[in-house]
Amino acid sequence: MKPIERSSGGAGAPAHVVSRRAFLRGLGTAAVTAAATSTAAVAAEMEKAGGEATVGPGEVPLEFVLNGKPVRTAAEPRETLLDVLRARFGLTGAKEGCDRGTCGACTVLLDGKPIYACMRLALEVAGASIETIEGQSLAGGLSPVQAAFVKHDALQCGFCTPGFVMTTTALLRANPTPTEAEVRRACSGHLCRCGSQPHIIRAALAAAGVATTTTSTADSLRHDHA
Ligand code: FES
Ligand code: FES
Repeated sequence: MKPIERSSGGAGAPAHVVSRRAFLRGLGTAAVTAAATSTAAVAAEMEKAGGEATVGPGEVPLEFVLNGKPVRTAAEPRETLLDVLRARFGLTGAKEGCDRGTCGACTVLLDGKPIYACMRLALEVAGASIETIEGQSLAGGLSPVQAAFVKHDALQCGFCTPGFVMTTTALLRANPTPTEAEVRRACSGHLCRCGSQPHIIRAALAAAGVATTTTSTADSLRHDHA
């Protein structure tokens, strides 16, 4: 059997032999062409299926209702709602904790429902109603939920607090007298690294006027040492 001819591609290599360099270059070109073709095909299919025009990559006009007022801005398609709220509107109450949908610090209400603003593209909220923590005390005083958080010492550093307040607010609108289990379930998408969770649950129930059986760590210690 005739051995496979190899060439370094250098001077003097037989003309009919494909050099390793030329072979790899050809492979790369083919791969790029295939990727570009398939990406274009997928984009065309998505556009056809959704009937939506492709926008960007530059800024696109964006209108929505923010804390009860119609607002107009512009955002790049890659920008998250959290980025737009914080950088373009200066509303820094919603915090960037994890930026990957696990901590809940960025929670705002979208048409009354809690969402992670870090996981939502700004352009997706066009025409919708967004509520942030800044909108909770527009009348000049604290909302009942905010007041309950203060009264029940439901925060330490406060980083997680806006998110918890927004979720609690949405819960109490939908279910004015939740059980403790329902409050815990509603708040399960939030983390408090300071360990204020028992106080937060107590505050949420107090805002609803529901008696609680929740025992805080401080209370446990007091009971242990009574
Ligand atoms: S910053 Fe959005 S969930 Fe953590
Ligand atoms: S009060 Fe500090 S993270 Fe919750």
